[in-house]
Amino acid sequence: MKVYITTAILTIVLLLGAICYRQQVWPNAMLPVDEEQQGLNKQIVINFSHVVAEDTPKGQAAIKFAEILEQKSNGRIHVVIYPNGMLYNDNNELKALQNNDVQMIAPTFSKMTKTIPTWEILDLPYLFHTDEEVEDVLNGRIGEQLLNQLNRVNIKGLAFWNNGFKQMSSEKKPLLKWEDFKNLKVRTMPSHVLQSQFELLGASSINTSFDELYTEVEKHKIDAQENTLSNIYSKGFYKVQNHITLTNHGLLGYAVLMNEDFWNSLPQDLQDDVVEAMQEATEWNFQIAKKLNQQDLEKLKKDPNIDLNTLSVAEQKKWEKKFKPLYSSYEKNINSTFLEEIRSEIHH
Ligand code: SIN
Repeated sequence: MKVYITTAILTIVLLLGAICYRQQVWPNAMLPVDEEQQGLNKQIVINFSHVVAEDTPKGQAAIKFAEILEQKSNGRIHVVIYPNGMLYNDNNELKALQNNDVQMIAPTFSKMTKTIPTWEILDLPYLFHTDEEVEDVLNGRIGEQLLNQLNRVNIKGLAFWNNGFKQMSSEKKPLLKWEDFKNLKVRTMPSHVLQSQFELLGASSINTSFDELYTEVEKHKIDAQENTLSNIYSKGFYKVQNHITLTNHGLLGYAVLMNEDFWNSLPQDLQDDVVEAMQEATEWNFQIAKKLNQQDLEKLKKDPNIDLNTLSVAEQKKWEKKFKPLYSSYEKNINSTFLEEIRSEIHH
């Protein structure tokens, strides 16, 4: 009997201990000191939260960045990655970054357009036509200019990463003509341009956070959505929405962001390590993005349940015509010269 009671008390004490530890109930001074772990006090931890799966261009680039940075800093920086929205989702990750609850996030630039309206330009459909154009703009002078706009919201913009061009997935019928969108409910990210884009085709837009998207798709609350093949494949949207049309109509990319106070707290040599690691991870991201989307396309082609189509050139011309008001609205309401600047960068 005595043994049972002692075991029960011990279990309760251990459980309470574990809970207190997780909740960080003890001030650091009360924690037991482990002499061998002393060096770790100097280690800086970067918590990096994002919403997609690990086997995606963003998931893989985050892992690469962590590896390179730990190596470059000789272990003085340790990056802990939280994928799949396990820590924060689309609705609260920006706040968490600004509060320094996490030090890094990488939202799509579409999700940042409410904070930085100029970035709506990157959502304009059919602005970009090739990966090279995307790379020139995001990794060049224009990308730098766009990232600098983050200074006023206490955020350090480290880089733009790419995922690739968006395609359409739909549940009941393939989307081959613009008229096919009539009365459909299409999920979009929270971006004025993206919402208007589908409204111009006669659909209504529904804003759903990425972590809730699969449930919404599964419950048939959404008829269609736009995404890259790597997101469509890694999250399994194609299992319900098995009509996929290759439209390449828009770009899905990310702004890699760091809390600015945290950035300023890093000594110069570690800031240099972060910049270098980010440059290498970014180059790698552009390569892996192409590769993963191509691989997922091959997998979808082989799946007998998938109805895979390509938007015809003639139809694309009609879509582009339909989307023209988005361009004039950007020029009228957001920035009258930037579109010209980006176009000349693309065509130089
Ligand atoms: C992401 O790639 O981060 C999510 C994209 C989406 O919300 O559709």
